[in-house]
Amino acid sequence: METRITISDLFEAKRSNRKIAAISCYDFTAARLVSQTDIEMIIVGDSASQLVLGYDSTMPVTMDFMTAITAAVRRGAPNVFLVADMPFLSYQVTIPDAIRNAGRFITESGVQMVKIEATSAQLDVIKAVSDAGIAVMAHIGIRPQSISKVGRFKAEATTAEMAAQLINLADLMVRAGAGSLLLEGAAAEVAQIITQRSEVPVISCGSGPCCDGQVLVAPDVLGLTQGPSPKFAKSYENLAERTLKAFQDYSREIKSNEYPDNDHSYHMKPGEVDKLKKILQL
Ligand code: KIV
Repeated sequence: METRITISDLFEAKRSNRKIAAISCYDFTAARLVSQTDIEMIIVGDSASQLVLGYDSTMPVTMDFMTAITAAVRRGAPNVFLVADMPFLSYQVTIPDAIRNAGRFITESGVQMVKIEATSAQLDVIKAVSDAGIAVMAHIGIRPQSISKVGRFKAEATTAEMAAQLINLADLMVRAGAGSLLLEGAAAEVAQIITQRSEVPVISCGSGPCCDGQVLVAPDVLGLTQGPSPKFAKSYENLAERTLKAFQDYSREIKSNEYPDNDHSYHMKPGEVDKLKKILQL
């Protein structure tokens, strides 16, 4: 049985100043590859809404969809610390709903933590889910589920006043029971202060280099996303180009009768073709 990374390992990494590598991915095949690297954490993000289902925001994904893909990721990566993103409407309506839905990720998907996009309005949810015995990552800064209120996202905490508010919010989240913070799109100077003050691991998504760890979505890391990406996204491969070439080569070989060749075809057992011809009187 492979050892699984736990929340204690993440706290230990913070204490010893070892950076935590996290990635957002959405399926068994990608998770299996991640599990063979030293990436410690997978966050199954609701960015699956855009990157798997093709919607234009994170809002439409459901609990049923998120629990199913998260369980697939767990099967692919039994050793990695697994976090599930709680989708829109899974925690905003009532606290019992939030606890029940967070619990579904534990019982149906095998996660070790749930992530909740939070303002001060969600402090009671963070507390209730944590009090129910479920580790919570509070996602602060840019919160993609707030798109309908903000219209367009921009960097967070770029003025002293906004910075002081975000620092205060981070403190409140930890006091309410958050076991980790995800800081999205915040000014690097502010992320550094939050990380230094916080007793829990702080993961940056586009919040500069000074947090305890970093997360990017797998399609950005692999260079699979086409079109504009956020400033902080970095590609380590150009799989879009390589994938296009593979699809095009495949199509060309079908059309030119090169695929399937003998090596990729099944055949009848020796002598069976002649017997069949007799049966069919050919
Ligand atoms: O949805 C997502 O992929 C995220 C990442 C920032 C982890 O929230």
